[in-house]
Amino acid sequence: MRLYWSPVELASRLARRGIKYNFASGAPDPGLLPFDELRKSFERVYEEYGKAIIAYPGAGGLRELRIELSRYANRVLGINANWRDVIVTAGAQHAIKLLSQLLMRRRTVVYVEDPTFVETIAPMKFQGARLISVPIDDEGVNTHELERLVKTHGPGIIYTVPNCHNPTGVSLSRNRRKHLIEIAREYGLIIIEDDPYTSLYPNTEPALKAINNDVIYVGTFSKILGPGLRIGFAIASGELRNNLEKLEQHDFAASTLNQYLVFDLLRRGIADDVIRKARELYPRKLQELVKALDDYLPNTLMFRPSCGFYAFINTGVNAWELLKRSVKQKVVFVPGGKFFINGGRQNTARLSIGSIRIDLIREGIKVLSDVINGYSMTM
Ligand SMILES: Cc1ncc(COP(=O)(O)O)c(C=O)c1O
Repeated sequence: MRLYWSPVELASRLARRGIKYNFASGAPDPGLLPFDELRKSFERVYEEYGKAIIAYPGAGGLRELRIELSRYANRVLGINANWRDVIVTAGAQHAIKLLSQLLMRRRTVVYVEDPTFVETIAPMKFQGARLISVPIDDEGVNTHELERLVKTHGPGIIYTVPNCHNPTGVSLSRNRRKHLIEIAREYGLIIIEDDPYTSLYPNTEPALKAINNDVIYVGTFSKILGPGLRIGFAIASGELRNNLEKLEQHDFAASTLNQYLVFDLLRRGIADDVIRKARELYPRKLQELVKALDDYLPNTLMFRPSCGFYAFINTGVNAWELLKRSVKQKVVFVPGGKFFINGGRQNTARLSIGSIRIDLIREGIKVLSDVINGYSMTM
C-alpha cells in the first residue's frame, strides 16, 4: 500500500513561507477563533475538574461533551440525537478513518462525488475500497447518475458532503436530497454525511441526518473553534455506534483536555457566538471571491459555490507549474488534480476563503490572474 502526501498539505507548507494571499488553507478565519475564551475555559475546567482533565478520555468521549454535542446537533443542525449516539472523535478526519476501518474492506463499493475531498478518501483507499466516481454539478451530486451506477455496481456506501462541498462549494438541491434518501432506502446504500460547514452559513439546507436517521453523520469543531483542537464527532446508532466506541479503544485519539475545553466553550455559548459571527463573515468572503473571479478570471469557475470555504476553477494551465510561479508573487492555492478520483485534470485549482483576510481576497485574485495571464503568454 502506497501512502501519498495530500496536495492540501503540500500547498499549506508553501504557505508558511511569507505568503500574503493564502487561498490554500482550509483553516478558519483566525479573527473568529475564540482564543481568549479558550484561556478562560482552560482555567475553568482546571479549577472545576482538576486532574480529570488529563485522565484517559474513555472510548466514545467525555459524557459531558457528548451531552453538549447532542444539544448542539439539535439546536444548530436540526438533528435529534441521543447523547449516547454521539461519538467524540479527533476531528472529522478521524471519524471518517474509523468509519472506513469499520465499514470498508478490499473491494467494498464506495460511491463518491467526483471531485471530492482528497484527504477523507485517503483512508478509504487505504482500506482497499473500490471508489466509484459520481458526477457533481451546481445542484450537488447527480443522484440520477448515482442510481444508474448503483444498478450496475450494486449496493455499498456513499460518502457525501451535501452542504458546502469541498472542493466545489455546491450544495445538494432539495429534490436530489429526497432522491438520495430514496435510493439509499431502495438499494440498501449506507450514507456517510460529512458536514464541516453547514453551521457557518445561514439558510443552508438541513443535514441529511435531520431528514433520515439512518444516515451516519460526521461533524467537527475545526472550522468553529480551531482545527488544532482536533475535536469532531460522529452520530450513529445501534451496532455501528457500539463498534465505533470499541474501535476508539485502539487509539484514544481525542485528547481529554481538548474535550473539556470544547465542552466548556459549548456550555458557555461561546461556540454559538462564533457561529453567529461566522454566518455574517463567511458569506461575504465567498461573495468577494466569486466577484473577484468574475472580474479578473471570468469563466474559470467550474461550479457556482453556494457556501463553505471553497471555489474550484479551471486555471487553463498546469496548476502545479502555476503554483510555483504564484508563490513568488505571494499567492498559494491547492492544485485540483488530486481531488478527482482518477487524477488527471491538472488544469484545476481549489481556492479557499477560510483563513485569508477578507480585504485581501480581491487583490489576491488580481495577482493570481496576472500570474496566469503571464504564464499563458509564455506558452
Ligand atoms: C469535507 C471535509 N471533511 C473533513 C475535513 C477534516 O476536518 P477535521 O479537521 O475535523 O478533521 C475537512 C476539512 O477541511 C473537510 O472539508
